[in-house]
Amino acid sequence: MRLDDRVCLVTGAAAGIGEAIATRLATEGATVGLADRDLDKATLVADRIGGSAWRADVSQSADVAQFVGEAAERFGRIDAIVNNAGIAVGGTVADTTEDDWQRVLSTNLTGVWRGMKYALPHLIQSKGCIVNLSSVQALVGMPGWAAYAATKGAIIALTQQAAVEYGADGVRVNCLAPGTIMTPMNEQIFAHASDPDALIASWNASHALGRFGRPSEVAAAAAYLISDDASFVTGSCLRVDGGLSILGPTGRAD
Ligand SMILES: NC(=O)c1ccc[n+]([C@@H]2O[C@H](COP(=O)([O-])OP(=O)(O)OC[C@H]3O[C@@H](n4cnc5c(N)ncnc54)[C@H](O)[C@@H]3O)[C@@H](O)[C@H]2O)c1
Repeated sequence: MRLDDRVCLVTGAAAGIGEAIATRLATEGATVGLADRDLDKATLVADRIGGSAWRADVSQSADVAQFVGEAAERFGRIDAIVNNAGIAVGGTVADTTEDDWQRVLSTNLTGVWRGMKYALPHLIQSKGCIVNLSSVQALVGMPGWAAYAATKGAIIALTQQAAVEYGADGVRVNCLAPGTIMTPMNEQIFAHASDPDALIASWNASHALGRFGRPSEVAAAAAYLISDDASFVTGSCLRVDGGLSILGPTGRAD
């Protein structure tokens, strides 16, 4: 299989996109190390796919260092890390509190940096690769998500930075920019909406394909970027967004 003999780590792997990525990588033959701040849920996923689970909060350096270090020791190598863990906290530029700003940065952006920093020594040895989770919100403005969008934009820059710094070592670094994907993250947003059905319909309509994406569709893109099929792909930001980022106003005359 495409990922036979590969050891892949995934953060935020207990639910949503991370769970789908861990599942897809295991299906393609990889040995998967799953990290999440929710160890019970991560363990359930690990047991289902034949992986190993760690409790790690990516906003804590010690947790990430321990996860990566112990995984390297247990598996003997690391071929890929998917820095997926992230949180969505709403707020405009002016409304966002200092606490929310720091919390979102520490998880979404610094968490990605921590995953790269601690995995890179192992990835240089294996000539491995990194996949970071950005978002379509790095590419188009959506009012009310200032801190989240800032982290996702920075992840593209950080991905490119790592790609140029470690390309000569044979390490490839890419990121994914998903559109709206139905996961617990969005289910929570809909649960709190005044008219969930109207919100879901408008979000569906904001994609050229007219619908949300599925976690498995992002997972397929992650598996591609990790595989040798992407052997000449580095520093890229692959949109898996159903056309959300290229959809303009209708332009119809009728
Ligand atoms: N769902 C979408 O529409 C969408 C779109 C674009 C990008 N993304 C990005 O994809 C990634 C996954 O999103 P999702 O929708 O699957 O989220 P989710 O909330 O459904 O699941 C996130 C998982 O990460 C874990 N997690 C959260 N904070 C953590 C931390 N500090 N340390 C360790 N684990 C932590 C959670 O426990 C959960 O298991 C995020 O980076 C998100 O920003 C999601």
